Amino acid sequence: MANILLVSFVALASVISLTLGQTVVVVNQPGPCFGCVLRNGIGYVVPENPECDTYLQCQYNQNGDAVGTLHRCGFGTYWDQDALTCNHIDLVQCIDTRCLGKSDGYRFKVSGKCNEYYECEGETRQKRACNDGFSFNDTTQTCEADQNCIAPQPVGCTLIEDPNNVCVFGQMVDGIQITQNCAQGLGFNVSTCACSILAPSCGPVSVPCEPLVYIDFETAEAGEYDNYGAVIDTAAGTAYFNGSTSIRILRLSNVEFMGNLKIKVSYKVDYSTPIRRTNEEAVITNGDCGELATIEITRTGPTTNLRAATFDSTLTRTTTDLSVNTQDDWRDVEFFYNKAATKLFGTVNDNTVDKPFNQTIVRSQCAFQVGRGPDLDNFRGWIRYIIVTTCD
Ligand SMILES: *[C@@H]1O[C@H](CO)[C@@H](O)[C@H](O)[C@H]1NC(C)=O
Ligand SMILES: *[C@@H]1O[C@H](CO)[C@@H](O)[C@H](O)[C@H]1NC(C)=O
Ligand SMILES: *[C@@H]1O[C@H](CO)[C@@H](O)[C@H](O)[C@H]1NC(C)=O
Ligand SMILES: *[C@@H]1O[C@H](CO)[C@@H](O)[C@H](O)[C@H]1NC(C)=O
Repeated sequence: MANILLVSFVALASVISLTLGQTVVVVNQPGPCFGCVLRNGIGYVVPENPECDTYLQCQYNQNGDAVGTLHRCGFGTYWDQDALTCNHIDLVQCIDTRCLGKSDGYRFKVSGKCNEYYECEGETRQKRACNDGFSFNDTTQTCEADQNCIAPQPVGCTLIEDPNNVCVFGQMVDGIQITQNCAQGLGFNVSTCACSILAPSCGPVSVPCEPLVYIDFETAEAGEYDNYGAVIDTAAGTAYFNGSTSIRILRLSNVEFMGNLKIKVSYKVDYSTPIRRTNEEAVITNGDCGELATIEITRTGPTTNLRAATFDSTLTRTTTDLSVNTQDDWRDVEFFYNKAATKLFGTVNDNTVDKPFNQTIVRSQCAFQVGRGPDLDNFRGWIRYIIVTTCD
């Protein structure tokens, strides 16, 4: 199976170089991913997008077809194709193809908004708006009187009042109004454009915690991860890694973990090999694409090591390391960055250690990888589950 896949992969794509631990492939199938450079199976292209805030994540699926998944950058960020990440809007030039070849002052409408338009300046664009009671006419490129084009809220407030429920407010996201809750005890006041009214009746909001990733090897759907040779035993609920196999979780590439992050993994070392292993082995890392990992769970002998990289105030990369010893066969590991406590916790079975940790974990463009990691030996043993959550 693995061989067949590899053959179709090579037939469909041209491998342009093979560096240590990194394959680079250019998609040559027609489609939105055409020309995309895949590093270890994942790549990014800029889709046709005048808003500059989306990007297409490309990869080959198990059938050997190049598929793209459209992602949208967070508020206030644009896709940065040089850095291959969403970056602050001030740091990314939003090149709108509609401004190419146009002289300064050329204008066009913002779709879906009666009063907003873009104006080209040096082939980049600036957002502008007509006054209340005027709409932008794309044909004449001017603001024209239009009594139907009234901003629904006082200028400056983009949040929307709900006349029936003071505890919530509306927010437009991609042209769709979503409802957000004010904090407990507060109600929304459109005059201040904030949850600034004391409203004891607005109760606590409980948000269910959906894991970003939940893989157990009894029930995991194949689409949750890409398997590079690990042997799944659904009866035992384990995946076996023989020291040259791995699993990748591509959808954890390029995710910014701004708040809490909890990674749970259960592993058991295969000691049957006659060779004594003293090197550090990768259990989970996020450094599969030729970059240093920023999150690592590894083992050395009976020790589980947990590591997170941050940039300090001078942008120097530093790592915080925790290690927990146990002689137990199965090691249920929890890596927990608790933002409120400003601490990194490492738990293995009943033992917990912690260290102060008050920075954001550096984002990695690489996928999460089970069983492999840069500068680490590959894992030999079994894994029962991998769970990643950001909400508790
Ligand atoms: C925009 O201006 C053109 C030319 O004057 C006019 O024909 C058209 O109706 C206007 N469009 C709108 C939506 O008012
Ligand atoms: C909403 O805010 C405005 C401006 O601060 C204030 O005058 C008004 O009393 C507030 N409304 C309520 C219901 O508190
Ligand atoms: C590990 O498994 C892979 C895929 O099943 C196989 O190709 C490889 O030879 C095995 N390696 C070892 C060291 O057994
Ligand atoms: C983070 O912690 C370090 C040492 O514990 C402290 O010196 C630094 O001021 C803290 N930074 C922030 C942003 O809280």
